Amino acid sequence: MRVPLDGLPERVTIYEVGPRDGLQNEKAIVPVADKAEFVARLAGAGLRTIETTSFVHPRWVPQLADAEELLGAVTRDPAVRYPVLVPNEHGLDRALANGITEIAIFGSATETFARRNLNRTVEESLAMFAPVVDRARAEGLWVRGYVSMVCGDPWEGDVPIEQVVSVATRMMDLGCSELSLGDTIGVGTPGQVTALIEALAAAGVGADRLAVHFHDTYGQALANTLAALRAGVTVVDASAGGLGGCPYAESATGNLPTEDLVWMLDGLGVETGVDLRRLAETSRWMAARLGRPSPSRVVQALAE
Ligand code: HMG
Ligand code: MG
Repeated sequence: MRVPLDGLPERVTIYEVGPRDGLQNEKAIVPVADKAEFVARLAGAGLRTIETTSFVHPRWVPQLADAEELLGAVTRDPAVRYPVLVPNEHGLDRALANGITEIAIFGSATETFARRNLNRTVEESLAMFAPVVDRARAEGLWVRGYVSMVCGDPWEGDVPIEQVVSVATRMMDLGCSELSLGDTIGVGTPGQVTALIEALAAAGVGADRLAVHFHDTYGQALANTLAALRAGVTVVDASAGGLGGCPYAESATGNLPTEDLVWMLDGLGVETGVDLRRLAETSRWMAARLGRPSPSRVVQALAE
């Protein structure tokens, strides 16, 4: 049953991260043909932004070492955006050589995760990103910036909001068009999310330039998303079937499952353009390829 709630947007853009954030954390290497079919099925279910892979060092993320091959195998639909992760100029060269028009750089609010994920301090990683964003923009590319560990860090514990705001504003100052707030280990709660979005607005980064990226480790991702929507955010990252995690943050589990998000938004009468049943079928298909059930409650419920 559809019952709206005041203070929510009419439409939400879902930024699907299953093929990248989801598959980067699978122990098994998924064959390229299956990845390409996954991307095509996601587009067929109505997703219009699909983060497809990463141009990172293949030794750091072997699961995505087939980035070039995958992009060659995906039939690109002109109505769909296919952003990829790019950490440095080498990654940008690879993205440009493969006809990519949207990239995402990925920074960290904490020093420990910056070192573990990028082999750089926070300062050094910002210096690594600066020429990437300059060159990408000169080539007409759209650039997203991620900030990870915005609600807590497995090594450093609580992360002060001012620290997140400081890194986030510097990422935006590099020239990013959108900033995605990553609760990489899923520890945040709705009050914290609301306070962070308000602090960013006070620092000049309004909710119209934000996206939220919640992992569901503590079951808070959907509640945190609702808080973000009420605070004016309209772009939400999610992963089909709840695949995902980060290989450099062991306590991270899957992202907010896209199906759980669409179920909530359908019930609220908020448009997404996604066909929930087709999407859940896709996640069941991928779960069968991976040999374990999807952790998404909605995928499980729709299968019964
Ligand atoms: P490094 O070892 O410091 O690299 O790694 P380097 O700059 O010293 O270069 C060493 C070698 O790597 C050189 O080759 C380079 O050419 C090569 P050699 O001369 O030794 O033969 N190299 C590359 N090769 C291919 N593609 C590249 C590339 N760059 C250098 N792009 C580096 C630094 C950034 C490369 C490494 O740390 C890395 O690849 N990290 C990626 C880690 C990652 O992908 N993590 C997961 C994504 S982040 C995430 O999941 C969080 C998110 O979801 C948000 C959230 O949840 O919070 C986004
Ligand atoms: Mg993530």
